[in-house]
Amino acid sequence: MLSLSGITKQIGGLTAVNKVDLQIGTDEIVGLVGPNGAGKTTLLNIISGILAPTAGVVTFNGEDITGMKADKICHRGIAKTFQIAKSFPDLSAAQCVMIGVLFGNRDPPGMREAENRALEILSDVNFPQEKATTLIRNLNVVELKRLQLARALASHPKLLLLDELTTGLNPKESKEAVGLIRSIRDRGTSILIIEHVMSVIMGVSDRIVVLNHGEKIADGRPYEVVNNQLVIDTYLGDIDAF
Ligand SMILES: Nc1ncnc2c1ncn2[C@@H]1O[C@H](COP(=O)(O)OP(=O)(O)O)[C@@H](O)[C@H]1O
Ligand SMILES: [Mg+2]
Repeated sequence: MLSLSGITKQIGGLTAVNKVDLQIGTDEIVGLVGPNGAGKTTLLNIISGILAPTAGVVTFNGEDITGMKADKICHRGIAKTFQIAKSFPDLSAAQCVMIGVLFGNRDPPGMREAENRALEILSDVNFPQEKATTLIRNLNVVELKRLQLARALASHPKLLLLDELTTGLNPKESKEAVGLIRSIRDRGTSILIIEHVMSVIMGVSDRIVVLNHGEKIADGRPYEVVNNQLVIDTYLGDIDAF
């Protein structure tokens, strides 16, 4: 479904992403890990069209989408979560998802239908119903995470990109998030997820890809990757992984 070939991104004098090849299949959940500054977020920004790569090709469902604008890529079926609280503090939760429904789809419905769909999607991610009209600035961290997810799902993505969605959640909340991510995949969406908490990544991923200094250093089944000596030396040895 998604194929990256030789993706490189230079930012100033720094190579943030260096010749990365990566494939994601239909209905696959791929975990993307690596130390801070490894290039994970930059790679997601390239896939979603927020950044253009310096070199390399991004192919999605057989189409070359390299350097395409973010709204076009969204309409083709790739959505990414972002920090909603910073962008739209004075919208209500439902309004925020409605924007996703209205602008994230090539064939958007009318306002009434968009509102109904927004409420349905909020309910799908277990967002508390009574808070649909609450302003975003007044939501707690768990509610904000669910809202981020709902907004991304509003464009009916075939591929969902999650950047540290469970960061800041407690273990119980993280476990619920893992269940939610699985159920999204089971409804037919592939997922690329960046996460530091190894129990989340291990619990949810079909495959794990490790970046270090912009380069891919491992790509395989979760247990192969966590037992890979290079991964242990460069990443797992340093973090409070489990
Ligand atoms: N807008 C930017 N300007 C300058 N340097 C950047 C910018 N974005 C990312 N970088 C640098 O690129 C590298 C990769 O960053 P990032 O993709 O955010 O890593 P990660 O998400 O793995 O922590 C880092 O060294 C970071 O400092
Ligand atoms: Mg990052």
